[in-house]
Amino acid sequence: MSIKELKKKNPVIPISELEQMAFCQTSSNLRTKTLEEEFQSGVRWQKAPTRYLRLSSEEIEQGIKESRSILGDQLFILGHHYQRQDVIKHSDVQGDSYKLSVLASQAKAKHIIFCGVHFMAETAEILSADDQNVILPNMAAGCSMADMADIEDVQEAWNDLSETLLEKNQIIPITYMNSTADIKSLCGQNGGLVCTSSTAEKAFKWAFKRAKRVLFLPDQHLGRNTAKSLGIRLDEMVVWDPFKKMGGLTKDQIKNSRVILWKGHCSVHTRFTTDQIQNARNDFDANIIVHPECTTEVVDNSDYVGSTEFIVDTISNASPGTTWAIGTEINLVNRLAMNNKDKKIFCLDPVVCPCATMYRIHPAYLLWVLDGIRAGLLINHIKVSPQVKKNANKAIERMLSL
Ligand code: 13P
Ligand code: SF4
Repeated sequence: MSIKELKKKNPVIPISELEQMAFCQTSSNLRTKTLEEEFQSGVRWQKAPTRYLRLSSEEIEQGIKESRSILGDQLFILGHHYQRQDVIKHSDVQGDSYKLSVLASQAKAKHIIFCGVHFMAETAEILSADDQNVILPNMAAGCSMADMADIEDVQEAWNDLSETLLEKNQIIPITYMNSTADIKSLCGQNGGLVCTSSTAEKAFKWAFKRAKRVLFLPDQHLGRNTAKSLGIRLDEMVVWDPFKKMGGLTKDQIKNSRVILWKGHCSVHTRFTTDQIQNARNDFDANIIVHPECTTEVVDNSDYVGSTEFIVDTISNASPGTTWAIGTEINLVNRLAMNNKDKKIFCLDPVVCPCATMYRIHPAYLLWVLDGIRAGLLINHIKVSPQVKKNANKAIERMLSL
């Protein structure tokens, strides 16, 4: 189905989510094509100068290597684990979103190039010094989950909740790293914090020491899985639907809850199912390892659950000859298979489904922004306003000091 038809059928779903749905159904070849060929894939790509559209992989690689050697330590390139191999091979460091935010905060280079998605580059910009520049190679590399929480809707929800819960220490907002700087700022300003998939448990414990309940944004699954692992019952959690008045909840439901989950999700991770787990166990006697953005049934039926860095560490340290079915993004699964030839590794979902927004960091964009730096131009320079930065920084620093 085309994006237009999908939009007609699902008018309230963000366009990035519809693109992800269409991309999952159609993409099967992960070989890096020219940008011109990639433009046919139906997702939004940032316009780039014509000269980059037809460059071959070899020409791009040569250009990036040349720029890297000329720019030397002025440059620090971070690569999230979901980036394609043709981008990862040019990165100085790789990691999950927590590790990369720590590394970005410690970087000394003048130019920090973030090969990841927009909210990660924004976080790096918040944590970097004023004389450093953070660059995202393709400005269309967002996150469909982050797009499910809009600052106006979140502010309205916060106002409704504050009017309902009048006494002190009633609620603390926690936002997953996968959210805009505005939402991080709202959390910082209201005594809350940011978390990543590797710090979510600590963030919940921190919040429950200070308040009776948590508002968790925007991933309902990570929020539910984390709260459940801390012993909170499912009937103590409610879902806030931003398209309904008062989130679709009564005052009593809010007052009786311990966790209010924003109605957001990741469409890459919600594709994994318990049937796939059963098949991987029956057919291959596989160990099952998944990311906590998967649904609670999938997480509960898995052997291991954790962030992308946890998945990389667990597989790298596993015994030779073991078999692993992985519930996360396909570029990471393929790289793990490539780097662990002594183990059998495959994706839980037999349909190839890359994260459509991570995929937008094509190596030609990396070359383009590097050429810009050499010419004295800051292409795709990420900037966060000073007021938002101040409060978002509070929320991120609370996470970093957990
Ligand atoms: P990690 O923090 O585990 O890298 O996850 C980020 C992400 O976007 C997963 O979809
Ligand atoms: Fe966002 Fe999901 Fe992609 Fe992660 S995998 S960046 S949550 S859309």
